[in-house]
Amino acid sequence: MTGQDAPVRMQGRIVVVTGGARGIGRAIVDRLAAEGATVVIGDLTDPGEVGAGLDVAGHREWVPLDVTDEISVLEFAESVQAGHGGVDVLVNNAGIMDTRSILDETVADWDLTMAVNLRGPFLMVKHLLPLMDGRGSPSIINIGSIEGLAANALHAAYATSKAGIHGLTRALAVDLGPMGIRVNAIAPGWIDTDLNRGYVDRHPNRETTMAELASLHPVGRIGDPADIAATALWLASADAGFVTGQVVTVDGGRMTRLPIPASLADDA
Ligand SMILES: NC(=O)c1ccc[n+]([C@@H]2O[C@H](COP(=O)([O-])OP(=O)(O)OC[C@H]3O[C@@H](n4cnc5c(N)ncnc54)[C@H](O)[C@@H]3O)[C@@H](O)[C@H]2O)c1
Repeated sequence: MTGQDAPVRMQGRIVVVTGGARGIGRAIVDRLAAEGATVVIGDLTDPGEVGAGLDVAGHREWVPLDVTDEISVLEFAESVQAGHGGVDVLVNNAGIMDTRSILDETVADWDLTMAVNLRGPFLMVKHLLPLMDGRGSPSIINIGSIEGLAANALHAAYATSKAGIHGLTRALAVDLGPMGIRVNAIAPGWIDTDLNRGYVDRHPNRETTMAELASLHPVGRIGDPADIAATALWLASADAGFVTGQVVTVDGGRMTRLPIPASLADDA
């Protein structure tokens, strides 16, 4: 979004995006900043140059954060309070994916997935909630997954954590609604990021794999991080003012198409 006349729906709003250094989180950062928001990226890794860019109306900055560590979350909250005086929108996006059989999964593997994907959002809400007090129309957006609704093979920990974040979303919508805070989740389908790019790259013929993946989607393509950012913008905006406790699936229709044997597919 460029130019003086571009609509800026997030003007003056303070947004926190965990895991905003790359992938889906970075797309959310860039989209909300383009709409005028001041966006604080909370990430383990340095996102590189994120100062207010030529093409954004708002502002971006990075504050180091490990969402699994309560001290780190408290320091992050203090930094945002000191720098910006509050938070209007919290996007709990940081997440990791664990691919193992239940026999190979160690307690440490399991606990790490739960620590990033579930304890992280819990700690962020717990310690950023005071910063949302008294703000106009605050909202929380959790990034869940279609794997919170169904599961790929070898994803017991990941799918459990994503079902958990959908549950946390509903519970917080109920508890925080009376404070005027809306809480929703986005369940992305297959989005082209580092999280799953490495997985595709392990297969000998990447092109074939990508074409097969695309064919699973009624829209004929896999998702782009910008698809999720557009939904996050809507959920954060006044247009979604009566929407809370929802898990919005953004998957190009993949979950909607019923599977059918290949031998019958032409007739379906
Ligand atoms: N890519 C997909 O297809 C897809 C599909 C469904 C859901 N999701 C979810 O979307 C979210 C983002 O995924 P992505 O594909 O952009 O992943 P990614 O791996 O590209 O980026 C994840 C970001 O989170 C950060 N991060 C990891 N652990 C952290 C921690 N402890 N504290 C702070 N930051 C941390 C990483 O440094 C990184 O910048 C995740 O919650 C993921 O489960 C992704």
